[in-house]
Amino acid sequence: MAIREILVVPHPVLKQVSTPVDVVDDALRALMDDMLETMYDAPGIGLAAVQIGVPKRVIVMDLSGKDEPRAPRYFVNPEIVWASDDTAPYEEGCLSVPEYYDEVERPARVKLKYLNYQGEAVEEDADGMFAVCIQHEMDHLEGVLFIDHLSRLKREQAIKKVKKLVRA
Ligand code: NI
Repeated sequence: MAIREILVVPHPVLKQVSTPVDVVDDALRALMDDMLETMYDAPGIGLAAVQIGVPKRVIVMDLSGKDEPRAPRYFVNPEIVWASDDTAPYEEGCLSVPEYYDEVERPARVKLKYLNYQGEAVEEDADGMFAVCIQHEMDHLEGVLFIDHLSRLKREQAIKKVKKLVRA
């Protein structure tokens, strides 16, 4: 396992649409292991492969609390098959937009399907933090960042702030 560099805005690769994974094999599991280690090191609760410069439809996540045992989760080729009409606001952040947080409104509940670490097909319902996180990460697969849901002014402010942070 290795810690990889996390790309930050306005890196052009973050705008790429990620391509589907053909097969969940050891090479892909090695990528997922690296992603998880990178996410824990950051630290963060979710990471899409494109954030380390690999535009494949792969996400890792761990929503366990600070004092709970780690609970890593892996999502390959995730798809949202249903989303609730009711929405919920949540203050989001992103490892690719460090130290910037703002509220985004998304469907409160979704149903998703994906392949897990073993390559098995899984269907699952998500609400609360899980629903927020999976929708945020799945946006990355389309080249969309949470700041793209904000006003242009706020988005420009966020990018300016990150540029300043990177230079410092
Ligand atoms: Ni993100």
